[in-house]
Amino acid sequence: MSTIQLKNIVKKYGDGYPAVNDVSLDIADGEFMILVGPSGCGKSTLLRMIVGLEDITSGDLLIDGKKVNQLAPRERNLAMVFQNYALYPHLSVFENIAFPLRLAKGRMSDAEIKTKVNQAADMLELREHLERKPANLSGGQRQRVAMGRAIVRDADAFLFDEPLSNLDAKLRGQMRTEISKMQRRLGITTVYVTHDQTEAMTLGDRVAVLKKGVLQQCASPRELYEQPVNLFVAGFIGSPPMNFLPATVTGDRLHLPFGEVEIHGPKADAIRQRQTVIAGIRPEYFKDAELGEEIDNGMEFRAVVDQTEWLGNDLYAYIPYEMDPSVQRTLDELDKELDGEGVRPQLVVNLDSRSLVSEGEEAHLVFDPSLMHVFDPETGECLTRDEDRAAQIARRSEDERRRALERAKARDAREQVRESA
Ligand SMILES: Nc1ncnc2c1ncn2[C@@H]1O[C@H](COP(=O)(O)OP(=O)(O)OP(=O)(O)O)[C@@H](O)[C@H]1O
Ligand SMILES: [Mg+2]
Repeated sequence: MSTIQLKNIVKKYGDGYPAVNDVSLDIADGEFMILVGPSGCGKSTLLRMIVGLEDITSGDLLIDGKKVNQLAPRERNLAMVFQNYALYPHLSVFENIAFPLRLAKGRMSDAEIKTKVNQAADMLELREHLERKPANLSGGQRQRVAMGRAIVRDADAFLFDEPLSNLDAKLRGQMRTEISKMQRRLGITTVYVTHDQTEAMTLGDRVAVLKKGVLQQCASPRELYEQPVNLFVAGFIGSPPMNFLPATVTGDRLHLPFGEVEIHGPKADAIRQRQTVIAGIRPEYFKDAELGEEIDNGMEFRAVVDQTEWLGNDLYAYIPYEMDPSVQRTLDELDKELDGEGVRPQLVVNLDSRSLVSEGEEAHLVFDPSLMHVFDPETGECLTRDEDRAAQIARRSEDERRRALERAKARDAREQVRESA
């Protein structure tokens, strides 16, 4: 159990390119921290610096308050699980899990090793596979063996680099749940790299979003979703992604491609002096007005639908609009940063699947302008972020995390009492 602190961490490889640029993060004891971002943004580099496989160019790395920049990987007592598991093919599952214990020579008797491996195998449901070889296991089972090896070491923290990316979708879902349960149960500090949205949102107590080596925002999934600090985070988190619409300002009114909205309160103060801004509206903030869902002060509009996708539980409708050239450049750039496939000036709306909007026909839609974000088209900064609300979300998620850890501890204690009875 440990805290991990990163203070102004920089990594420059041989060519001088800062793969990680001035990243500071405080990871709490027992916290599940996710690192996300597009390919090449420095996630693996950051993880490898924490575990000691990569030198830190500048900045400090502290584990439990102690600077460890110069310590070799094995002196840091962290357990890393890689994407390709790195199992020994000639050893049985038992021996693969026991491997780190045998390495630490003489410290443990065979009986102790057996107890530890069996405990880990029980937790990971590998008990009946202990005598088998890795080649005969499924991808998910191999993954669990790799995790078992991390568990038996009593490491201070777990580090995962895209551990599930080789698995098929169903198994990925199962393993995600298992990792989450195991992490809570062990209460062990975890840093987990992924570029899978679902993993980031469901596993993380907090998620750190990186862009080109620079930390953009580190917050709970809910805060990232509801109160992003900039266009990049807003566009990266959420699927289908947030709609970014060109908007012009006159006084307290915002002209969107589909009509006009009046802005109230602090949001109005933030945009009043501007001319052009980018409005961000998530697909699910739109409703089909024909279904009679009431929205107070909702903005209603009619628009012709180009295409629909009915998925049973959702209905996506695509609605083209005219792009304002003054924000086109910003949105093109954003799209490139997000590894997108080119900006199409079309609104994506996620409606209730009961909706009857159809292709080529006019839809009658409504949305709540108070849910809209407004961004500076030059800097990408979110002008309407609600700091009070963000702080409130952060407090709640920290409370939730603590309670989950306490519940897990209480459950373990009960189980131990039962076992010894
Ligand atoms: N050994 C190396 N030498 C030089 N540059 C490197 C080296 N390893 C990584 N880089 C560069 O550092 C940057 C960050 O790479 P890194 O592997 O950390 O990205 P990542 O976020 O893990 O990407 P992915 O999602 O594709 O795994 C990239 O621009 C990459 O080209
Ligand atoms: Mg990587």
